[in-house]
Amino acid sequence: ISRRTLLGTAGATGLVLGTAGGAVGYAAAPSEATPLSSVGADMAMFHGKHQPGITEGLQAKGHLVAFDLAAGAGRKEAAALLRRWSATAERLMAGEALTSDDTDVARDAGPSSLTITFGFGHSFFARTGLEKQRPVSLDPLPDFSSDHLDKARSNGDLWVQIGANDGLVAFHALRAIQKDAGAAARIRWQMNGFNRTPGATAHPMTARNLMGQLDGTRNPKPTDSDFDKRIFVPSSGSNDPSWMANGSYAVVRRIRMLLDDWEKLSLAAQENVIGRRKSNGAPLSGGSETTAMDLDKTDAKGEYVVPVNAHSRITRPDQNGGAAMLRRPFSYHDGFDANGVPDAGLLFVCWQADPLRGFVPVQRKLDRGDALSKYIRHEASGLFAVPGGAAKGEYVGQRLLE
Ligand code: HEM
Repeated sequence: ISRRTLLGTAGATGLVLGTAGGAVGYAAAPSEATPLSSVGADMAMFHGKHQPGITEGLQAKGHLVAFDLAAGAGRKEAAALLRRWSATAERLMAGEALTSDDTDVARDAGPSSLTITFGFGHSFFARTGLEKQRPVSLDPLPDFSSDHLDKARSNGDLWVQIGANDGLVAFHALRAIQKDAGAAARIRWQMNGFNRTPGATAHPMTARNLMGQLDGTRNPKPTDSDFDKRIFVPSSGSNDPSWMANGSYAVVRRIRMLLDDWEKLSLAAQENVIGRRKSNGAPLSGGSETTAMDLDKTDAKGEYVVPVNAHSRITRPDQNGGAAMLRRPFSYHDGFDANGVPDAGLLFVCWQADPLRGFVPVQRKLDRGDALSKYIRHEASGLFAVPGGAAKGEYVGQRLLE
């Protein structure tokens, strides 16, 4: 979880590292005495048990990028690439400039909670001769009847998730990651997203999506006793290969929102679709955002107050054999078509220890048609194995690739 950088501990300007070891830091902060704002100074840790970008709070800007290995590039090139990417991620997440050819785009800014997360897609393993190491959990997701998937914007050999609370910091990282790929890999698809900027609300709140709902209320929390079991691959005792210890599986879905249809609904109809109040996220059965939903409560006519097809009733772990996931999305908006229809929605990213006990059973149920289905369309899909975090001196994926 992101940690506030204490300005003054590592040098008066926090990020100034001078030229020690040949590394050039961003020394030109407005003045030696001007501390970075807390948004700029916030820093997530690159090294750790898990990769960054999974349990941290939502970031204001995000880039999701998939790469395919170039023809002729195999395991050796992939290992070298992950080594380069890890070195870049470590520097940029610490708010340091690149050692050479830095573009200066993030100059003057702190790391702004930058996280860079790396994953492997199903196709990576055949390309690198590592089929035996491919986790069963990477088997392709089932087809869902409501899918409208664009294959060119789905899956890929490698996946990189970049998030930061500053657009320039995020772009700077994206460009560095793309350049690091060099001749070894090229971009297959890219999606750009956003969330509320920290500080925009009077106090921290659950974020809203582009339908205006509070989205994330019932996410598992790191303090839950079963959080790790649900989200991360255990070090032993699972069917996963050992290189996936402490890793997680990311399901990525580009879900377009049919906003013209959605926005025609009355407030009451919108609230019935989700089963929660739009204003404060409280269940329709009463209380506040965090009040437990009363699934059995009926109105004067004997009808369920939270409709049987309400999205937040259908998706609950207790309605899906315990299936749970950590949803950590970005909203996206890619403009309007000639008729003024917005290409906007959710870059839905969810994390789980096993997609068959997370995304898949829940999406199977939603695919049969919950109240929300009419207002959304899944347009792209990816499933990626995200290995555990790199220890000091290690690169991400080293246990697979060395
Ligand atoms: C809950 C919106 C797609 C799984 C919710 C809530 C909202 C929401 C507003 C209630 C607040 C909360 O607990 O976060 C949306 C929108 C979607 C979407 C707008 C598409 C654009 C999906 C998909 C899945 C999913 C594709 C998984 C297959 C869940 C889960 C919950 C939830 C697990 C929490 C259930 C609970 O434990 O109470 N969603 N959702 N959602 N959604 Fe979605």
